[in-house]
Amino acid sequence: MEFQGKKIILCVCGSIAAYKAAYLLRGLVKLGAEVQVIMTPYAKEFITPLTLSTLSGRPVLSEFFTRDNGQWNSHVDLGLWADLILVAPATASTLGKMANGIADNLLITTYLSAKCPVIIAPAMDLDMFQHPSTQRNIELLRSYGNLIIDPASGELASGLVGKGRMEEPELILEKIKTIFSEKKNC
Ligand SMILES: Cc1cc2nc3c(=O)[nH]c(=O)nc-3n(C[C@H](O)[C@H](O)[C@H](O)COP(=O)(O)O)c2cc1C
Repeated sequence: MEFQGKKIILCVCGSIAAYKAAYLLRGLVKLGAEVQVIMTPYAKEFITPLTLSTLSGRPVLSEFFTRDNGQWNSHVDLGLWADLILVAPATASTLGKMANGIADNLLITTYLSAKCPVIIAPAMDLDMFQHPSTQRNIELLRSYGNLIIDPASGELASGLVGKGRMEEPELILEKIKTIFSEKKNC
């Protein structure tokens, strides 16, 4: 149980690679981590909150507040709770918002409130990935100290072949192990 006692926020965005978040979540839980999932509103079009809440054993968070009863989710508390934030898959849109502080959903406000290490695994079509805007946002995120896990090359959901596939969950788990072993107090 290498991740026993570790609190991880798994942020899931609206990418076709969102199904890989389920494997990632299973791996994190198997290793003993306590995982809180945050989904962007678009992510829910790709994988259901029910799947991720069942695998994590916690309700998935997505909205700032519940309209019916005024209950709200504190991004500040979430950001301070986490030992690690993992954004996987990260879309071009979310990379841009994270890089530029466009805080219009719970994922971004939590990211901006956090003090812990942040790992980002982008996933997108090869041309979106290569666009100077995406590359600039990735460089900005690196300059903030965030760890980017480069996407792999291969067949993409569009049918094109190139760099853009979200890295496999097993490899991402290995990176997290390295981070936790390097930063023993995080
Ligand atoms: C079928 C489909 C697949 C998509 N896959 C991706 C993707 O892998 N990466 C990406 O950056 N955007 C992808 N998009 C576009 C995003 O869903 C869109 O930019 C959305 O606004 C992202 O919002 P979010 O980052 O808040 O989740 C896809 C859209 C569709 C319709």
